[in-house]
This record gives sequence, C-alpha cells and structure tokens, in this order.
Amino acid sequence: MTYLANPARYDQTGNRPMEFRRCGNSGLKLPAISLGLWHNFGGVDVFENYRAILQTAFDNGVTHFDLANNYGPPPGSAEENFGVIMKKDFIPYRDELVISTKAGYLMWPGPYGEWGSKKYLVSSLDQSLKRMGLDYVDIFYHHRPDPDTPLEETMAALDLIVRQGKALYVGISNYQADEAEKAIAILNRLGTPCLIHQPKYSMFERWVEGGLLEVLGREGVGCIPFSPLAQGLLTDKYLKGIPSDSRASKPHGFLQTSQVTPEVIAKLEQLNAIALNRGQSLAQMALAWLLKDERVTSVLIGASRVSQLLDSLDCLKNKNFSQDELTRIEEILK
Ligand SMILES: NC(=O)c1ccc[n+]([C@@H]2O[C@H](COP(=O)([O-])OP(=O)(O)OC[C@H]3O[C@@H](n4cnc5c(N)ncnc54)[C@H](OP(=O)(O)O)[C@@H]3O)[C@@H](O)[C@H]2O)c1
Repeated sequence: MTYLANPARYDQTGNRPMEFRRCGNSGLKLPAISLGLWHNFGGVDVFENYRAILQTAFDNGVTHFDLANNYGPPPGSAEENFGVIMKKDFIPYRDELVISTKAGYLMWPGPYGEWGSKKYLVSSLDQSLKRMGLDYVDIFYHHRPDPDTPLEETMAALDLIVRQGKALYVGISNYQADEAEKAIAILNRLGTPCLIHQPKYSMFERWVEGGLLEVLGREGVGCIPFSPLAQGLLTDKYLKGIPSDSRASKPHGFLQTSQVTPEVIAKLEQLNAIALNRGQSLAQMALAWLLKDERVTSVLIGASRVSQLLDSLDCLKNKNFSQDELTRIEEILK
C-alpha cells in the first residue's frame, strides 16, 4: 500500500506536537526525539514491524533517523532495509528527513575496514550511500576515536566528504571531552564546523557531565545522547523479570542479562515510583530528564515496536522537574 505521511505531522496543536531544537550554533533543527536503527531494523528483524515504526515516527514529526555502516545484524543490513523503505515510502519526503550514518567500527576485513583513516571513511560512506540508495547523507559521523590515525587525517576526511557533496554536516561520536575539543578546533580550521557529538548518556551513564557537555555548550556543537533508556533498562519492562522478547534475552542484543541485577532493579523501582507520581512512564521520565538540559539537542531512542515509540514520544508532555524530584533522583542514582 502506498504510504502517505500524516498531514498533521508538524501540527503544534495536536496530541503529540514535536518540538524542534537548534543543533548547537548551526542552522539545522532536530526533533527532540530521534530514532536510531542499531537494533530492530536488521536482517534478523521483521520488515512490516520496522516499517511501521519508521512510518509512525515520521507521522509524529520524527524527522531524524540515525544509522551506521555496521548496524544489523548482519552489518550493513539496517542500511539496506532503510534503503528499501526509503524507496517504498520516504522518497517524496527526502527533503524533510535528516539521515545520518557513521563509520569507525569493523565493517570489512583488512587494514582499511575500520577506525579512522581517510581510506576507510571515504569508502565506507560510498558503500553506505549505495546500500541506502541515497546521493548524500545529512550527517556523517566518525563513530569512535582512533588512537593510531592522526586526528588531522580523520577530520580532513570528514571535511573532504562534505566538499564532495556526500554529506551536508559532520559529527563525532564517543570522543572524550579533550579529544572532542581538538577535533572541533581542527574542523573549524578546515571550514567544516562540527555539527554534533553523539555520546552515550542516560540516568545510568553520566560521563558526559564531567567536561564534554561544557565543551559542546561553549563551542556551539549539538549533543544527541544515544541509548538514553540504557538499552531498555530505564523502562518498566524489567521490573518483573526479563521478558522473552526483550533485548536482554536476544542472542544478538547488546544488553546482557548480567546487567539486569537486583541492585539495578531496586533503583528502577524507586525511579518508577517517581515517574508514576509525575504521571509518566519511567521511559518518559528518563528521556525528559535528559531533555531538561538545553545543550541536549535531541535524544536518540530505539524502539522494537510502535507502542514503545509512542510511549517515548509522550515524554515531551512533561519536561519540568521540581528541585525535590531532581534531588530524589540523584539520591537513587548515586
Ligand atoms: N554512536 C554510538 O556508538 C551508538 C551506540 C549505540 C547506539 N547508538 C544509536 O542510538 C540509538 C538508540 O540506542 P538504543 O536502542 O540502545 O536506545 P534506548 O532507547 O536506550 O533503548 C531502546 C530499547 O529500549 C526498549 N524500549 C524503548 N522504548 C521503550 C519503552 N517506551 N518502553 C519499554 N521499552 C522500551 C526497546 O528494547 P526491547 O528490544 O527490549 O523491546 C528498545 O529497543 C541506536 O539505534 C543508534 O542509532 C549509537
């Protein structure tokens, strides 16, 4: 069936108005909620399920989809599947979408299939564009710092890719504060400013508060936290054991059952009580808690079904925290 996007997708008076936030000092606005295709969109997943997730996202103003060369499994399959959906559903809407991909992790054998050389980054993006059937991506990221390649070479590769017209903007991911600061300075010098940084950040993962957020705020670079729900831990799904269809119980899932400990559950129960008191699900509170910081441009969520996506989108209905709630949350997290 031909997909027709919801005509009310940008309507600010509807039930789920999307909020758009400026990405650092750039001219690009991103939806407060972006959708990532790391899990649930690969060769092992169900086409009609992930197609419905993508359509529902766009129908609700989620204009940003995040990929990487290695998402699957198998690696590359999330980009291929996204390419199929692009062709079937989203081609008429290409100019309304911000599509990102990345390179940095192992993608093919030999010395040029991972890390940060110009050789790897340029070829990897060419492959990604073919898999997705796109002429360009909106954002291309270096996925992780490379201890062996000079940062100047990696940043020059990002600059080159923009000048070739294969990406409109560039970003970095998993760079520590000092590495990020150096990368941002090099990109500024080259004339291709760093648009955005993608770090792991959630109530359970706070390293970015030790300097990175400060650098990004000062330099006018956006921040898009990944795994904002700690891969599903920061929801109510594990409160009564590990469901058989959850990420923790999937053989290819990155969340390990060993991470679902009694200590974690005890924290989740207390956080859940605060969330319920706020009239929110735990997932909604965890996302709203990140979005209260203006340096956070967008939260990059995952979803294995449409109902989760809709639940997460509703976090925007209450982003205000009282000082008492914030103090109680800190007490639980420490
Ligand atoms: N740059 C990097 O190095 C890097 C690394 C990792 C991820 N990322 C990006 O970040 C994106 C998001 O990562 P993530 O998938 O780990 O994010 P996440 O939002 O922390 O976790 C998503 C998972 O949580 C569960 N979930 C989501 N919403 C829920 C809800 N409302 N209620 C109950 N359960 C819910 C689902 O798991 P179930 O399967 O259990 O249902 C879902 O697959 C990725 O797709 C990718 O684009 C980037």
